[in-house]
Amino acid sequence: MNNFEFYSPTKIIFGKGVENEVGKEVKAWGGKKVLLHYGGKSAIKSGLLGRIEHSLQIFGVPYVRLGGVVPNPRLSLVREGIELCRRENVDFMLAVGGGSVIDSAKAIALGLANPEIDVWDIYSRKKEPKACLPVGSVITIAAAGSESSSSSVITNEDGWLKRGFNTNLTRPKFAFLNPELTYTLPPYQTASGIVDIMMHTIERYFCSGKGNELTDRIAEQVLRNTIRFAKTCLEEPCNYKARSEIMWAGSLSHNHLTGLGAQMDFSAHQLEHELGGMFDVTHGAGLAAVWCWWARYVLKADVNRFVQYAINVWNCILDPIDPEATALEGIKKTEGFFVSLGMPINLSQLGISTLSDEQINELAEKCTFFGKRTIGTLKPLDSGDIKAIYHMANV
Ligand code: NZQ
Ligand code: ZN
Repeated sequence: MNNFEFYSPTKIIFGKGVENEVGKEVKAWGGKKVLLHYGGKSAIKSGLLGRIEHSLQIFGVPYVRLGGVVPNPRLSLVREGIELCRRENVDFMLAVGGGSVIDSAKAIALGLANPEIDVWDIYSRKKEPKACLPVGSVITIAAAGSESSSSSVITNEDGWLKRGFNTNLTRPKFAFLNPELTYTLPPYQTASGIVDIMMHTIERYFCSGKGNELTDRIAEQVLRNTIRFAKTCLEEPCNYKARSEIMWAGSLSHNHLTGLGAQMDFSAHQLEHELGGMFDVTHGAGLAAVWCWWARYVLKADVNRFVQYAINVWNCILDPIDPEATALEGIKKTEGFFVSLGMPINLSQLGISTLSDEQINELAEKCTFFGKRTIGTLKPLDSGDIKAIYHMANV
């Protein structure tokens, strides 16, 4: 086995009705005043927000509310949250919603704990944060895995740059996972979430350097199980068993368990982030639209890896004369699965009408941080590679 560190400190509280205990949990972590952060309307409409407020009140935890987080959460609301929390002496972030709400809460927590730094300088990697206020969450969608990840992703409206930042400082203290809270998700969000969950494992699985067999087997099983229960979530939205399996997979996929001892790749994520910044697309759908093109583009960098994926995840049979055909079959199966979920597999299906060469150049420029980096590890991609992949997906 290769050396690795595994740090996943988030306390997971899983099951029906668990979120009613959230006030007790905040108190146990020392929260004296809470920012109750949420999104548009789903948590209000379902009555969840009211129940969370009730729990905070019962356990005597004062709070201020800040709603309005949108998918691809915006820097302007993060700044508003920092100001509000300073005025109100808030010391604990409670995110009620999906990855966007949790990420916004993480960014506010970073901004508050590092007053000498402009929060965007953290996301544009100019300054390193030294601390972070505690964050906890009640999640309403199985997708981003932010409830147990070290990441947060914020979009700056000035230039429409979507930037992620990773630090163990932002790993949440706790996450309440009640699968019933995902029953109200629109099918497109359910499906996008499933793609995102798969991608968090796939983008760790396809990477340079391997050797931890157990990590590979865990990753393959997380993928197989997600594939197995995905359709049921769409066909029977209130199926507790299926929603449970997907929700737990979402947390395991991005707490790094599925990538121990290997370098991550995350190229498709970087390609999607630029699309999200420029066109405000749904994250998982954007991943579905680019991944298979990325896979075909980098296939030759490690055919055996793609063969292993095809066999162990999709039950493909090895073609001993032409292993590349087996590898391609695995990609095709993935693509077919995305289609079966109603997900896009190219940019026009994602709702982006044909990109011009100028737009592709701009996406590639932003993706390389204006020529300062390559992306990915399986095959490091420079600006030319990135443009080639966007061109392939541009159908
Ligand atoms: O705002 P509301 O009304 O709540 O609607 C939301 C939103 O429109 C809706 N929704 C959520 N739960 C619902 C619901 N609607 C009905 N019933 C429910 N129970 O779903 C929409 C999407 O919500 P969002 O929070 O954006 O979804 P997701 O969890 O997919 O988060 C996506 C964001 O996370 C980032 C993505 O880039 C994107 O910005 N990511 C964060 C990561 C991390 N921090 O570790 C990793 C990921 O790779 C990803 O990049
Ligand atoms: Zn993702």
